[in-house]
Amino acid sequence: NEIKIFCPATIANLSCGFDVLGLCLDNVGDEMIIRKSDQKGIRITKLVGADLPLETEKNVAGVAALAMLEALNSDAGFEIEIYKNIKAGSGIGSSAASSAGAVFGINELLGRPFEIKDLVPFAMQGEKLACGNAHADNVAPALLGGFTLVRSYAPLDIIKIESPPELYATVVHPQIELKTSDARSVLKQTVSLKSAIMQWGNVGGLIAGLYTKDYDLIGRSLHDEIVEPLRSVLIPGFDLIKQTALENGALGSGISGSGPSIFALSKGEATAHKIAKAMSAVYDEMKLPYEIHVSKV
Ligand code: HSE
Repeated sequence: NEIKIFCPATIANLSCGFDVLGLCLDNVGDEMIIRKSDQKGIRITKLVGADLPLETEKNVAGVAALAMLEALNSDAGFEIEIYKNIKAGSGIGSSAASSAGAVFGINELLGRPFEIKDLVPFAMQGEKLACGNAHADNVAPALLGGFTLVRSYAPLDIIKIESPPELYATVVHPQIELKTSDARSVLKQTVSLKSAIMQWGNVGGLIAGLYTKDYDLIGRSLHDEIVEPLRSVLIPGFDLIKQTALENGALGSGISGSGPSIFALSKGEATAHKIAKAMSAVYDEMKLPYEIHVSKV
């Protein structure tokens, strides 16, 4: 009648895959306790670690869970306790963790009426509430683990890709808040054919690299022609952090989701920690507070 779940943080976009690529972090995330209740519907009974609304319709977990119960035409009731570790506006999928966690947990308590993949559209409703856009590139990896590709939004077609065994992520979060809606508002609605050609070449390269465990190909493909140049100016020290990651052995580096977190991928845990140390030194020097994580992906 009760379930305790880990709601993982995620890195969306992965440079070339704006709104379509994402990966799940192994050891960074929130916790959630969900229990059955006699009262129909969803109630958020506790929210620790963040100043977010408790009202069901204003809370991403509440909205995602309600969408799921509605699809089932269910009279069931649930209470949700949320323990946030992932800061809102950090770029590692804070809202997605809550949306995905809620629908995953309720699905388990109901005896799994849905396959995990079919929970993605419900979790996307939480993303829509959070930033006005129902993207799936954080909720899909949070639910399915590993890497995910949104091959298409209409109809929704999500491909799960296993992580190569030695792939690690380093993610640094300079302690400023950057709203996804703001980071989306700086984007242009059209791209040049020249940029598009580079971008889809890299997306294909990244997917091929993941399947063949070709770490150099993964690195060569982690490049963003379209979004990073427009958004990186919003992130303090971005160029220096990225350059530092590459100098310390990263396969590639870029903006995590809509920022301000910056990620680097590397082959092997030791390199990921070396990069974390070097990134920390940059922000220490700039006297900028930050949080940093190293995780298997
Ligand atoms: N793909 C989204 C964006 C992820 O970059 O705006 C943010 O949650």
